[in-house]
Amino acid sequence: MSRAKSVHHVNIQTTNRERTKEWYEKVFGAEAVERGSRRQLQVHFGTWEIHFSETSNPIHAPLVHFAVEIDDWNEMLAHLDQLGMTYGKTVGPGRAGSFRERMGGDDPRQGRRESDGSHYAYLQDPDLRGWRDGFQAVYVIATGVQTGFFDQLAAHPQGLTAQELAQRTACHVPYVAIWCGSAYRYQLLDAVNGRYVLAPHADSLLAGRAHPDSQAVLFLNAVREAGPRLARQADYMHSGAVGSHAEAYGTNPTRLDPPPNQEALQRRLWQDEMRPCVLALDEALHNGGRVLDVGCGPGLMLLQLAASYPNATFVGVDVVEVGGLETARRLIRERGFDDRIHLECVPAEQMTYAEAFDGVLITRVFHEIPVASRVGLFRACYRALKRPGVLLNLDFAYPDTLAEFREPLFWSGVDNQYREMSWGTVHPTWQEQQQMLTAAGFAAIERHFVRHIPQGTHYLAVANKL
Ligand SMILES: C[S@@+](CC[C@H](N)C(=O)[O-])C[C@H]1O[C@@H](n2cnc3c(N)ncnc32)[C@H](O)[C@@H]1O
Repeated sequence: MSRAKSVHHVNIQTTNRERTKEWYEKVFGAEAVERGSRRQLQVHFGTWEIHFSETSNPIHAPLVHFAVEIDDWNEMLAHLDQLGMTYGKTVGPGRAGSFRERMGGDDPRQGRRESDGSHYAYLQDPDLRGWRDGFQAVYVIATGVQTGFFDQLAAHPQGLTAQELAQRTACHVPYVAIWCGSAYRYQLLDAVNGRYVLAPHADSLLAGRAHPDSQAVLFLNAVREAGPRLARQADYMHSGAVGSHAEAYGTNPTRLDPPPNQEALQRRLWQDEMRPCVLALDEALHNGGRVLDVGCGPGLMLLQLAASYPNATFVGVDVVEVGGLETARRLIRERGFDDRIHLECVPAEQMTYAEAFDGVLITRVFHEIPVASRVGLFRACYRALKRPGVLLNLDFAYPDTLAEFREPLFWSGVDNQYREMSWGTVHPTWQEQQQMLTAAGFAAIERHFVRHIPQGTHYLAVANKL
């Protein structure tokens, strides 16, 4: 009888091809190969292989695992230690009193088989610790922005020692040395001739940079505002209490005194993303048209539009004064646009404009509008538009299906929903939004994905009053 000789391959599922490839290469030194017309991911281990089937909806079977033989056990453990991997005698911490917990000796990091004395240990892919490390990296970055460490390092391309960096920023030398070590560990810094230099990709973190891709504000907001709120999420889970966006705007430095990159971002949003979808509106604005910005906040979009279209007039509405309309009023006065931009403090769903505007913009506002008022808001926008007129609604892209929760296109929406849940944020799915727009009378509704925003992918709804 012909007998099976050895395993050729096993086929298992993966939801993330790139992460899987990276993990097997890093941990086992295996060779990743992409085969066939469908570019199947295969990982080769000498005489046997693992083939991966990609799916967003894997079958979850308990205790699924496979085992690999290791030539040099101690060397492998040292390698795992060096990678910072967690491994152990059981999968995870091990349930107290379970048979796996009782077997294999006392060392929690590895077990020993009674039958032949060989060692074993369990590894999990992915390793949850990566999330914790990323969390801490956010704080290291924010501290570097706040103290001016990144700016100083950018100003000294030949590099600085921790001591020099501390002197230039009036900071405590031993702490700065610890920060430098951490920033080096996260590859935010490199080292040249014993001095720290900025890693090339850290450029986008430089505080005060006017570039729309500057990410500094994201990290500052994460630690100043989102972090403390996220830490209370467990309380909110119990209470279901709803906090207030408005209060948070009133103390947010970005809303009180917007950094230049925020304006640059609005300019790019209009020029590169919105304008090409609404060329008739662009034409109307050149010829003295009128636009309404719903939830205009500090008015940055209005300022950009007023500068780009000197013949056009604008109205901005919002409900927040401090960190909103107050800032907008000041900036409009400073730029000399008082005669062309009018502001009003009114809940958008209560606006009474009729046939007054060529275009209505709603940017990153809709998720803040109470669910019960949303169709009413779209109706008020429809009424406010001339015929023909166009509505542009830009907001975080939020998934319609469970599978989309794992698609990177929707992660900024999923993350924003979690971060702002205790402010009453409810992100609409695309289908919900489309239904509401239709119910309000809009037609020829299009969806465009907008990717070039540091906060992540948004979708832009373009809806027409024909
Ligand atoms: C995230 S901010 C966006 C501001 C601005 N559109 C932008 O893109 O920078 C959301 C704005 O919507 C405003 N807002 C929330 N609910 C509103 C409502 N019912 N009527 C008018 N504005 C509202 C908030 O006060 C806030 O200024």
